[in-house]
Amino acid sequence: MAAKMLGIDIGGTGIKGAIVDTKKGILISERTKYPTPKNATPKNVIATAMKIVKDLEWEGKPIGAGCPAVVRQGITKSATNIHKSWIDFPVEETFSAMAGAPVSLINDADAAGLAELSFGEAKGVDGVCLLITLGTGIGSATFIDGVLVPNTELGMLKMRDGIAEDYATNRVREQLDLNWKEWGTNLNEYLNHLEVLFSPNKIVISGGVCKKFQKYSKYLETDAEVVPAKLLNNAGIIGAAMGMQNKLSNK
Ligand code: BGC
Repeated sequence: MAAKMLGIDIGGTGIKGAIVDTKKGILISERTKYPTPKNATPKNVIATAMKIVKDLEWEGKPIGAGCPAVVRQGITKSATNIHKSWIDFPVEETFSAMAGAPVSLINDADAAGLAELSFGEAKGVDGVCLLITLGTGIGSATFIDGVLVPNTELGMLKMRDGIAEDYATNRVREQLDLNWKEWGTNLNEYLNHLEVLFSPNKIVISGGVCKKFQKYSKYLETDAEVVPAKLLNNAGIIGAAMGMQNKLSNK
């Protein structure tokens, strides 16, 4: 029997959603996408997410969502690449009230990690496994023997004159027009830093740039195995849906 759940991936540039078969880890509807509103306050973003709910005829049913912030008990605690009003906002409760249905909200990288843990490259890894998403920001999902430690925010680690997000995101590669060697070297420095701190057995690279893995993998010299994510761009949607499914089955 299919376990159907709507998953919504809230990002700094786009809000994407689809109905997911959470047992198989696949999308079973079209993938709907809207640009993130310019004034990306929680209420404006939720209003956009509600368009996806309507498009996919999911009104009144539970929703799983991921967003680019630390999320503790439904409250967002940070806002690095989104409107500052997300800090300390009860996003889960507000979304649920606007949808008239239960909502589960988790960090977007944790969502991608949950999907890779069940259906992709993080599956069955002993010890520490890190999933790093490289997009507008850097997100992270940290697993210890397959158990998620949420909200690790490893993109905030200090690096050179700033933080890792200033050197190793895909945004920086595009904005500074870095070639694959220059950017790959930055990424290698960051991954080496992660290795010193966590000694991971495997590092999974997620986000759109994982499709170009062959172009920069030759610049990565790590002790851990480094691989591109298996679920590519849909991991965030699939994992968001799984977050709600997990919440319902833990009740
Ligand atoms: C945010 C993280 C998020 C990541 C990827 C970062 O700027 O701080 O919470 O996971 O971007 O969207």
